[in-house]
Amino acid sequence: METTSTTISRLGEHIGTPVTLSGWVYNSRASGKIIFIILRDGTGMCQCVLEKNDDTESFFGEAKKLAQEASVEITGSVKQDDRATGGFELAVTNVKIIHASVDYPISPKPHGVDFLMKHRHLWFRSKRPWHILRIRATIIDQIRRFYNDRGFVLIDTPIFAPAAGEGSQTLFQVDYFGDPVYLAQTGQLYLEAACMAHRKVYCFGPTFRAEKSKTRRHLTEFWMVGPEIAFASLEEVMDVAEEFICSIAQRVLTDHREELIELGRNIEDLEAVNKPFTRLTYTEAAELLRGPKAQALLENDLTEKSARVSELNKSIEELDAVSSAQGVKQWKKDKAAAEVVAAREERGELEEQIKNIPHHLELAKNFEWGSDLGGSDETIISRLHDRPVFVTHYPKDVKAFYMRQDRSDDRVLECFDLLASQGFGEIIGGSAREEDYDRLLARIKHEKLPQEDYDWYLDLRRYGSVPHGGFGLGVERTVAWICGLRHIRETIPYPRMMGKFYP
Ligand code: 4AD
Ligand code: MG
Repeated sequence: METTSTTISRLGEHIGTPVTLSGWVYNSRASGKIIFIILRDGTGMCQCVLEKNDDTESFFGEAKKLAQEASVEITGSVKQDDRATGGFELAVTNVKIIHASVDYPISPKPHGVDFLMKHRHLWFRSKRPWHILRIRATIIDQIRRFYNDRGFVLIDTPIFAPAAGEGSQTLFQVDYFGDPVYLAQTGQLYLEAACMAHRKVYCFGPTFRAEKSKTRRHLTEFWMVGPEIAFASLEEVMDVAEEFICSIAQRVLTDHREELIELGRNIEDLEAVNKPFTRLTYTEAAELLRGPKAQALLENDLTEKSARVSELNKSIEELDAVSSAQGVKQWKKDKAAAEVVAAREERGELEEQIKNIPHHLELAKNFEWGSDLGGSDETIISRLHDRPVFVTHYPKDVKAFYMRQDRSDDRVLECFDLLASQGFGEIIGGSAREEDYDRLLARIKHEKLPQEDYDWYLDLRRYGSVPHGGFGLGVERTVAWICGLRHIRETIPYPRMMGKFYP
């Protein structure tokens, strides 16, 4: 009989008819005269059931030997089955092996993240990265849609840059035919020039920072997107940021609700991402850190996390007993062993966090006006709000030279960070830009930046300078927050961090 080639995502169009799927064996289990193959084809997963009978006998033996990640073509008729993954099942009539897979390194049992990262090129095929990278693609699509729909003009800014855009501490230097240049830390300065031509512009591209520390929030190569708007005030720029973030959360909730649930993301937290976001000044944020709410939050953490560790200790003991008991079925032992690995990992993380709590408490309690907010401070502030929160008007000394000085209080700048909720911390940094030539030049000199490198940038303040502003959003931090991932490394296909650049 004629069969149609299709994909798992379109099985619903073929109920009761024979189709051919092409893909890879995700998992396979034989039980007497039946083989259950979970096939993945890039669009989804489907259980394929092969029964041994006169028609299938000729290839049944070969099919039984199919290993994880062998590539195959499977023909069968489509049955609707609400209990099955994806809602369909294939009653197999033929299996054609395209290529074998021997000793695939990533088995269904848990692996450490270092091992998985070294096998990133294969790890892509597993469920979790598959979900995350699809959500990333949707977020990027929504980012472009947001700006394109609102009349922002896309301006691509260069990656080779002659000067620092965002502080000289994190520059990657490259030899440019004998001259030193740097990989772009931001497209912002170039974008400012373009907004004087097109009024509303945005740039979106890879960004580089030589971050010499290993944290869960920093990559050395990441993607940044942001608008720049002529004649905009700080408040207007923040309004855009607010609407932008809401549109991203909405889009992912609409397109990926099931995947978010599978990743363990709390959906209600994302549904709460609506306007307006609280706008705290830096000074108010500092008071919040020193106040009783921050203290209570951390003390409560200590109690809850310690209780969870005791719970885990107990279950690890019980699971160990199952693994080593006599007469327990092998699959039960395997399950217990896998659970122990997960429990130990969770316990390790909690113990690390518990160890840090007293230090974070001290930092918050003694927070001094004038210092920058640290990672733990941001976490506290963002956890004290149920949706993203703006912190505005930071002191001059902790922010970049191009930010506009507040004319009513010259100790602070017209700038903001947006801290994502649930403790994720900063995902956006932005500001009004200093439009006054003399003030900007004074900042460049004060920061001891080489003035000649910024002469073109000063031109923007020589010829029809106007108030303007914008912000930059880190794509990977946004993906981490939306998906509920503790660490940023899983949010980009090939993460680059200090000491990590393979594969
Ligand atoms: O706050 P940042 O440094 O701001 C700028 O670069 C401005 N020039 C943007 C602008 O106003 N147009 O960086 C912006 C965002 C951060 O909020 C964060 O989300 C992300 O970029 N980011 C990083 N993400 C991953 N790894 C790093 N090392 C990052 N550094 C910044
Ligand atoms: Mg920042």
